[in-house]
This record gives sequence, structure tokens and C-alpha cells, in this order.
Amino acid sequence: MKFLKFLLLFITLQLTAQQGGMWIPSLLEGMNEQEMISLGSKLSAKDIYDVNQSSLKDAIGHFNGGCTSEVISPNGLILTNHHCGFSQIQSHSSEENDYITNGFWAMNYGEELPNEGLFIEFIVRIEDVTSQVLQGVTEQLSEKEKQSLIDKNSAVINKTASKEDWQGSKIKAFYKGNQYFLFVTERFEDIRLVGAPPVSIGKFGSDTDNWVWPRHTGDFSMFRIYADKNNHPAKYSKDNVPYQSKHYLPISLDGISENDFTLVFGFPGRTNEYLPAVAIEQITQKVNPSRIAFREATLNVMDEAMKNDNKTRIQYASKQARIANSWKKWIGENLGIEKSDAIAKKRAFEAKFQNLVKEKGLEDSYGNLLSDFEKLYLEFESVNVKRNNFIEVFLVNNELMQMMLRVYQMENANKKGEVAFNKTREGTIARIQGIHKNYNATLDKSVYNAIMPMYSSNVDVSIYNKTAFTNLDDALEILQGESKDVLKKLNKDKAYIYAKPFVDEFYNVINPEYQRIITEINALQKTYMKALMEVMPDERYFPDANSTLRVTYGQVKGYAPRDAIYYNPVTYLDGIMEKYVPGDYEFDVPQKLQDLYADKDYGQYADSNGKLPICFLGTNHTTGGNSGSPAIDAQGNLVGLNFDRVWEGTMSDMNYDPEICRNIMVDLRYVLFIIDKYAGAHHLIEEMKLVHPKG
Ligand code: ARG
Ligand code: GLU
Repeated sequence: MKFLKFLLLFITLQLTAQQGGMWIPSLLEGMNEQEMISLGSKLSAKDIYDVNQSSLKDAIGHFNGGCTSEVISPNGLILTNHHCGFSQIQSHSSEENDYITNGFWAMNYGEELPNEGLFIEFIVRIEDVTSQVLQGVTEQLSEKEKQSLIDKNSAVINKTASKEDWQGSKIKAFYKGNQYFLFVTERFEDIRLVGAPPVSIGKFGSDTDNWVWPRHTGDFSMFRIYADKNNHPAKYSKDNVPYQSKHYLPISLDGISENDFTLVFGFPGRTNEYLPAVAIEQITQKVNPSRIAFREATLNVMDEAMKNDNKTRIQYASKQARIANSWKKWIGENLGIEKSDAIAKKRAFEAKFQNLVKEKGLEDSYGNLLSDFEKLYLEFESVNVKRNNFIEVFLVNNELMQMMLRVYQMENANKKGEVAFNKTREGTIARIQGIHKNYNATLDKSVYNAIMPMYSSNVDVSIYNKTAFTNLDDALEILQGESKDVLKKLNKDKAYIYAKPFVDEFYNVINPEYQRIITEINALQKTYMKALMEVMPDERYFPDANSTLRVTYGQVKGYAPRDAIYYNPVTYLDGIMEKYVPGDYEFDVPQKLQDLYADKDYGQYADSNGKLPICFLGTNHTTGGNSGSPAIDAQGNLVGLNFDRVWEGTMSDMNYDPEICRNIMVDLRYVLFIIDKYAGAHHLIEEMKLVHPKG
């Protein structure tokens, strides 16, 4: 009996040892530090985050607000994913200079390519400012009043926070608004493209392999940060010099084996781990199916057009990738939630919560939380789906409708006067130019034809022949002149006349209703978070991802998604050759890589078994935004580059399950092999610090 108890304890400890979690780097001392050590780490909390001395965090940069990147040399060389740098690679590409197909390698500083608008932000310091932010915020206030006081307090804190003139700061809510942290930041704006493999390496397997294991993608690209003469952030200038960060990551040539400790350090975007069952039900049964259908219809048209025409393929590469990526993720998310019986399990958990609330005499404060969620989500359902559908048509899939949304916003801004109008016009023109840079009206019209009937019964294809907006010059001509003339011309445009009532409905009906209910849901979610921590104080709680710097850790591990199937955690170059389909747009392999494989010319990058490792799996809890995040070994060296999750585990944004949720990383030895042996960019290898931590 005693033994059984011990065994049970052991089993629960084993499970909690891999529970996931995205932790705040400044708060690792104690539980996280201990847990990391138990998983094999040799790092202290201070090695990871320190404000007085350099630490790992000084090498981790938020890449353009959406991905993660890390410094890997004393000269500001940085690594991120190929798919994170893809729009920059594309923007430098043309049919003559096709860097997507052929790759790009700057052979010296002079050849590195500047990227307007691209930025990388580092975290200087993190501080708990909860009490200052919530000063004066009482339960008597309405949600709106609370928020405006929080905004006011935050503005004061930002203004008075101690920081240098070249630094910025921001405040973010954690635990659904129960806690607030201040981030002092440094944002670099002169970021130049240094290298990218051909897409047949950087996106090997494309959509078929996306979100899938086993994986063989060399998903990396390289940039360099430039700073002014004082090593401070600066706008692009030819006089800028390579940035010297307080820390850069050494790279391990010893790689990883199963059960090795790994830490992933980056900027996860958004998770929702504390949703009630009713919300998960709505997302997976109503919202996801609807948006999946919109994208599927678009992709059918787009994929076909891209296959048939090379120019279209280059033009739509980035747009298509963006649409396809979430489309496939949502399908996997739904499968995972269903297969793991997540909703029923959540309901059982909620019954337990409800009982404890009663037992602890907390019914007055928390007794109605769950039933209130049920009521609110029921009310929310149709407007939630409608709003998502609007986004799919007017912000994601159809480009003419995207332009119409923009010009609508411009007309709206005119109500605030000429200054507001002119400012919005500038943004609108930039956006329309952006769309037209890679626009194919025939393709867009086919997309419209495919998706508009799913949005409304009012479909009119003839607008494509009658509008000015399918042609950039004609569109710009409408936007020239005084506001009243612009609006007069605009309101005669057939596409605008058609789209305006839809956008009107969105702004006057759908969105206000959505905002009203989501505000109530958020307030309830805040109370629920607090209640969970109070009613079940022994559980582990980590704040949902919110695009702030986080640490997640685990071990290299395979997984068993189905009966009798077990996936090994490491793939090799041999697997690329197994998947090779000559001339295929997803699975072609460059001749040079085939030659290197035939010669087994792997140099110092081979694994101990003589093979060249490509990708590996870990139990690190990651999400979108963690793309490009470094996978760091027990000693603080770079061993991998995070870029994806496994299909069965994409539900981890709502329901992390240590059994089947895995993140996918590209092995740094493959990255170095491509730079060195494939591209011959030895000078880049020389800048790095290569180490042998395993002796
Ligand atoms: N699924 C990964 C992520 O969410 C990789 C996306 C890029 N790769 C691709 N084949 N589209 O962003
Ligand atoms: N590919 C994702 C990104 O772009 C990371 C994978 C994930 O969602 O876990 O951030």
C-alpha cells in the first residue's frame, strides 16, 4: 500500500515534469529552476535572465513583432526561420534574381540587403507593476472605466520608467489582467538580409509537410543588425556598423540525443489555456469549420493558378503561405481536441472546480462563473462566427475587398476632418500599393467567386470589370485630390458601391455586438483565472502567451500519436532523399545537396552515427511567434531553431497535452552544413563560436 502511494506520487511527479508552460524569464528562481535541473539543465535562473550581467536574454530578439531571432556572433549576425524572413526574401526577388528559388548569400557586409520597416526588439528589463497599474481600479467601476484608468496609469508608468533615451517601454497584462509587467526595450531598425537557402531547402515539404512530423525542412534565414557608432538603435544608414550585443549564443557541434534537456527562449504570440469547455466547443465546432471552409475555397483557386504560372507562383508565395498555414493548423487543432476528448475532460475538471467552490464556501464570489460562461457564449456564437467570416473575406482571402475596407476606413476618417483624412489616405495608398505589388486581378476574381457566396447571397462578379481598383494607376487616380472630390469619385466606383453595405454592417452591427460580449467574457475570464488560483492553489499556473519574452523547457522526445505508432525524435538527410520527387514544387531536392549526400561529405556536422541530422522534436510548449526561437542545450549553447509543432499537438494553444504535443526544431548542424558546405559561405561560420560541450 505504502509502495503504491509512493508509485503514484512518482507517476504524478513524472507527469508534472513535462507539463508545459511558458514562463516569465524574470521569475524562474525556485520552482522553474528546480524543474529545469531535474530535466538535465546546468543553467541557473540568472544565466537565463539577469539585469546586472549579460545573460541569455540579451541574445533574444523579437523579429518584426511576429517571430523570434537570436544573435549568433559578436557582429550582430542573427538567425531566424526562412518563413519569418520570407517576405523580405521575396521583396528582393524578381524573375531575373529569384532568391526564393536559388537562395541568397551575401559574401561580405556590402552585399547585405536593407529591409525597410523590418525591426528587431530586445528586452532590457522586466518589472512587476501590478499595483501601480491597478491603482484606483475598484469593482464599482464599469469595465470601460476600469480600462481607461488602467490605460491612464500605464501611460504614467511608461513616462516615468527609468530608461535611456534610445530605449522604449511597454506594459502588458498577464493572467487575464490580474497582473501587469513593464518591459523596457531596445528596438533596432537597420536589419539587413545576409543569407537564405533555396526554398527547396528552407521550405522543403511545403504545405504537405507543414505541421507534420517526420519533417526535413531547413527553415532558416540570416540577417544582421546594424547600430549607430555608439552601438545604439538607429534608422538605416550606410554609416551604421554591425551591432555588438551583450551576449551571443555559442553553437554546439555535439547536437542532441533523446532525453537531452532543451530550453526554447522566445516571443510566443497567443494561447488560451484557461478557457471554459463551452468556449473550446464553440471554437472547434463553429468558428474553425467556418474559417477552414473560406480558406479551403481560396486555396483551391490559388494553388491551381500558382502551379500553372511561374510569375503567379512568385507573386502569391507569401500570401498563399499565410492563408495555408492557419488553415492547416485549425484542422489539426480540431482533430487533436476531438481525439484527446478535451471538451469532456474540461467539463469533468469544471465539475470538480464547482464542488471545491462549494466546499470552500466561495459560492457567493465564484458560484455562477461557469453558468455565466455558458450564457455568454451562447449569446456570442453567431456574432463570433460572423465577425470571423468578415475577417476571412475582407482581411485575409480577397484582395479587392481588402482594398474596399481600406477606402471605407478613409471615408470614415473624413468625419474627423481633413487632417485625419489625409493621414488615413496615406496609409490606404501604401496598403493598396502593397497589394498591387503582387496582384493578379483574374486570380483575385476567381477567389471572390469561390468565397463570396459563402458570405452572402449578394454576389456580383461584374464589379471586377467596372472598378478602378483592379488597376493601380486608376486606383491612385481616385485617391488624388481634395477629400470631397475623392469621396465623390469613390462613391461612384462599382466595387465600392457593392462592398460598402457589408462594411457598414460590420462597423455598425457585427463589431459593436462582438465587442460588447467579448468585454463581458474577458471580465469573467479574469475572475475565473483568479478563482482557479484561489480554489486550486496547488496547480501550476503560467500566464497565457501575449507576445512577451518567455522561457519554455523540456526534453528531446519522440511520441506515439496512434496505436502502435511511435515516431523517433530525429530525422536525417536520408529522409530528404526518401521524400525526393524530381521537379516537384514541394519535394524537389537541389542537385548540390544530392551530390553532398552521395559523397557523405558532412564534415564536422555529422551525428555520431555518421548521418546528417535535419530536424528534432521536443516537449517544449511553444506557439506561433516562437518561430525562429533558439533551442538551447543544458549549457546555454544553441542546438536548434524552433519552427513548428506536430499535427496532433497543435491544440496545445488551448489544451497542452504532454503525451502528444511536440515542438519541431531544425538541427543547428544542418543549418551550419547548408551555410558552409552547400552555400560556401565560410566567412559566416568563421564569425560564430562553435563549441563541443559534450567533450
Ligand atoms: N507551421 C509553421 C508556423 O506556424 C511554419 C509555417 C511556414 N511553413 C510553411 N510550409 N508554410 O508558422
Ligand atoms: N511556425 C510557427 C510560427 O511562425 C511556430 C510554430 C507554432 O505555431 O508552434 O511562429
